[in-house]
Amino acid sequence: MPDKTVYVTRRIPQPGIDKLKEVFEIDHYDSDDAIPHQVLVEALKAKKYDALLCMLTDQIDAEVLDAAGPQLKIVATMSVGFEHINLQECNKRGYLVANTPGVSTDSVAELTCSLLLMTARRLPEGVDAVKNGEWGLWKPMWLCGTQLNNRVLGIYGLGRIGFNVGRRLKPFGFSKIYYTDVHEVSYAKDLDAEFTDFEGLLTKCDFICVCCNLTPQTRHMFNRDTFKKMKNTAILVNSGRGGVINHDDLVDALRSGEIQACGLDVTEPEPLPKEHPLVSMNNCVILPHMGSNTWDSRNAMACIAARNCIAGVSGQTPEGNIST
Ligand code: DGY
Repeated sequence: MPDKTVYVTRRIPQPGIDKLKEVFEIDHYDSDDAIPHQVLVEALKAKKYDALLCMLTDQIDAEVLDAAGPQLKIVATMSVGFEHINLQECNKRGYLVANTPGVSTDSVAELTCSLLLMTARRLPEGVDAVKNGEWGLWKPMWLCGTQLNNRVLGIYGLGRIGFNVGRRLKPFGFSKIYYTDVHEVSYAKDLDAEFTDFEGLLTKCDFICVCCNLTPQTRHMFNRDTFKKMKNTAILVNSGRGGVINHDDLVDALRSGEIQACGLDVTEPEPLPKEHPLVSMNNCVILPHMGSNTWDSRNAMACIAARNCIAGVSGQTPEGNIST
């Protein structure tokens, strides 16, 4: 009989549950939808858990952590992103914090490349045209997009995902690949990618893929001023976090032709309301944050989050340790 307890804030894939069952008695919020904040607080007040397995939609703030109580060992998020967790507050209480790095790199990189192609080649407009009966006889200048070869690719954030986006896109034949990060990284040479400062990325690149985390430093890095510096033909793709782009400024930049187009898998806010001006713009392709939506990734994310919980209650360092 398991003597440890875990609270899981959502229905998660079965492999994760099976793993947790090896060690824990499991209580979970039995829904595919996000747990309301107060429901989470009350659940944690009502019973004392050794581990908390949460999602990126759960704000793990001081109120939640107080409710959880001092016996809690670990907060394990089933996500790579962890901006929803107050690390300082966790640290103050001595809780471990862990994420699920590595296992969604390929799925997010695949989707980022798809989004870049969808946006550059105007694929959603083509699909809609067929569905809406707007496909007439062949026209020489209909739905013409931008080719990738001989153009300049920029990657903002050359971490695991950024690198794997570059690796996949390189065979398309870019004339040059630049990247911007906090510092130069040695593995960039495998892409023949050259380090540039942010200004260089903005001014030199035809395509910019945003693959970074959301931090106070990256918040709204793409804004009115930076769009002005980008090429009018530039295409911006974001699979990192919505908050890296100021969306009001993005609307203006796309409307005024300051940049050509944008592909977003992440937005601010999420979900982006249907009435948001970006939703109806032809030069903005929006996906509903589905970068890691593959069974391979999701099963692996659930397993690694479960292993992190187990490590946390067994006095081991979790594999996705991000405790400060
Ligand atoms: C993550 O893991 O942070 C992604 O954004 C969702 O899978």
